[in-house]
Amino acid sequence: MRRPSRHRVPPPTADQLPVDVVVLKPSAKRFYGQGVPGVRAEELGGRLIVIEGADGSGRSTQIARLVDWLEGTGHATTQVGLKRSNLVSEELDEAKHRNTLSRTTISLFYATDFADQLDNVILPSLRAGYIVLADRYIYTLMARDLVRGIDPGWLRKLYGMALVPDAVFYLQVSPENLIERNFAKDFTLDYWESGMDLGISCDMFDSFIEYQKRIVATFRQLQSEFGFTMVNGDRHVDEVQAELRAGISAVLKGTSPRQA
Ligand SMILES: Nc1ncnc2c1ncn2[C@@H]1O[C@H](COP(=O)(O)OP(=O)(O)OP(=O)(O)O)[C@@H](O)[C@H]1O
Ligand SMILES: [Mg+2]
Repeated sequence: MRRPSRHRVPPPTADQLPVDVVVLKPSAKRFYGQGVPGVRAEELGGRLIVIEGADGSGRSTQIARLVDWLEGTGHATTQVGLKRSNLVSEELDEAKHRNTLSRTTISLFYATDFADQLDNVILPSLRAGYIVLADRYIYTLMARDLVRGIDPGWLRKLYGMALVPDAVFYLQVSPENLIERNFAKDFTLDYWESGMDLGISCDMFDSFIEYQKRIVATFRQLQSEFGFTMVNGDRHVDEVQAELRAGISAVLKGTSPRQA
């Protein structure tokens, strides 16, 4: 009989250590309404995290840092956002420039863009256990439509296809800071994000301020129904990031961001 070797296996060096594999606890998923035909929400893994906020509220800045942090801690991530579908993003841009579509048609165009990303990116990524970071979601689409007088019941049915996210963080930034940040970035304000189509004012600054106030008021109403986590986005980038990370850490552990 062979005697066991007296040679002990040397401990692994740092570069031989296995990479940390982070296994997420399952999180109960559901759709807001009818969902997507053939998809059972309870079979989906991963996490769907939404960052909402006005133009220039700092969503891209925060999401870029969140991706670095999450990927650096062993999580696979993917990103979605408005007007990013392969199906209609270019056509949607073109339609907005021409400004010829009715409010309902534009709304359905955005819903198509959302549905395409839901089907082809969000759901497959969650099935594969990814963390999906959404730069805006159905709430911005709803808020924009609601301030333009579109029927709330019709919108709720339309977005019944959407999956309920694991967390929604809303970056709250004052209109004054938004103007400053948008100018610092683009040297201009956006026609649509200033609500110029609503005929509030011929002056784009005045229109922007009033339109953003209406959007914020609408988001407040949506907040009571959908329960966003409000984040003070007027602070330094690092402070906002720290709060988002604390909230997302809680979501990854399977608790609510408010328990962070
Ligand atoms: N907390 C912050 N404090 C000061 N400036 C900020 C902060 N966050 C972002 N910014 C700056 O504000 C500008 C807009 O930020 P960012 O592009 O991240 O916003 P956004 O919400 O993604 O905008 P958009 O709606 O145009 O996509 C950028 O110049 C960015 O550097
Ligand atoms: Mg952005």
